[in-house]
Amino acid sequence: FLTGLIDQFGRTATDLRMSLIDKCNLRCRYCMPAEGLDWLKKNDMLTADEVIRLADIAIARLGIEGIRFTGGEPMVRADLVDIIASVHNAHPQVELAMTTNGINLEKKIDDLVAAGLSRINVSLDTVCPDTFAKITRRDRLTKVLEGLHSAKAAGLDPIKINAVLLRDINDDQAAELLTWTIKHGYQLRFIEQMPLDADHNWTRDNMVTAAEIREQISQVYTLTPHKSPRGSAPAELFDVISQESGEVLGTVGIIASVTEPFCADCTRTRITADAKVRSCLFSHTETDLMGLLRDGSSDDAIADAWREAMWHKPKAHGQTKTGLGMPGFVQPERTMSAIGG
Ligand code: GTP
Ligand code: 5AD
Ligand code: SF4
Repeated sequence: FLTGLIDQFGRTATDLRMSLIDKCNLRCRYCMPAEGLDWLKKNDMLTADEVIRLADIAIARLGIEGIRFTGGEPMVRADLVDIIASVHNAHPQVELAMTTNGINLEKKIDDLVAAGLSRINVSLDTVCPDTFAKITRRDRLTKVLEGLHSAKAAGLDPIKINAVLLRDINDDQAAELLTWTIKHGYQLRFIEQMPLDADHNWTRDNMVTAAEIREQISQVYTLTPHKSPRGSAPAELFDVISQESGEVLGTVGIIASVTEPFCADCTRTRITADAKVRSCLFSHTETDLMGLLRDGSSDDAIADAWREAMWHKPKAHGQTKTGLGMPGFVQPERTMSAIGG
């Protein structure tokens, strides 16, 4: 390729996150309202062929090295397996991953792996059924756990679990969840809640911070920084050590997007299910590619528009010097579910 996705602050985006659909079968309160959203109309969404074409442009012309499919919930799309198979067959060297809530994973995992999916991250904030129902507004914990275990049985490794802690709901369950994930061989990461909820209930004072999560876990385990370099990964990794035996039991990651932002090392570009480039989770501008995809424009023209969009990636999120939730911060219009995380 000629030029990758570089921005005016010297970062290069090599990871693509593609949201395939804005719908979801859960209603996590940090992401969606109870009644759902005004879903995209079918005709405004990328078709499978368009997803495949964009992936091809990203890889062949823009230097993208890995693609993560997100949603809403990506498995709600009936053509997900076909999309993965086509992208994988055309570009077997590119890692294809998915972030999912795990519902129906049990049914689909074998086909997904056969199609070329190589890694999954599963959202799971609690292993207590009542707490799960409270957070996701659906009583479906068992389906998620079945999905996770099937993915492990299918040989996917590592399987990462993303957990968000909410004040007075599951903020006392960090160590319990960690114990469970270590026992079952999953890699847990806690994500600081970001202001991307539909209800605009997030406040900086009320969110559970990375410091608080570390402190809570430290009451049960000893945490020491993990040795391998972090690079552009959003999670800071810690070894989890037994306070009785001193043995390293596993690792835990903490994604401190709010209190310890990692924007300077960001390698991500995002496409929404309606074909907008988002240079950042917290962008207030989007660049439309759907018009170009549907008016006969060339791959070169689409690649140019994508480059131009990424050139203007904000230096840091919120486009304020002070960060998320600080004076001057304006929450983006789209919720997490419509951006894809
Ligand atoms: P791997 O590390 O490759 O496994 O994936 P990932 O952590 O990038 O993907 P995942 O979908 O599991 O994302 C985990 C969380 O990290 C989500 O809440 C993302 O929104 C958050 N995250 C990922 N990229 C960024 C980013 O560029 N900025 C911020 N603030 N958060 C991000
Ligand atoms: N803040 C932080 N993480 C969130 N996620 C969804 N909404 C939020 C939010 N407001 C998480 C999901 C999923 C990942 C892509 O983002 O749990 O694992
Ligand atoms: Fe669905 Fe994920 Fe949003 Fe939960 S966080 S409602 S699982 S898209």
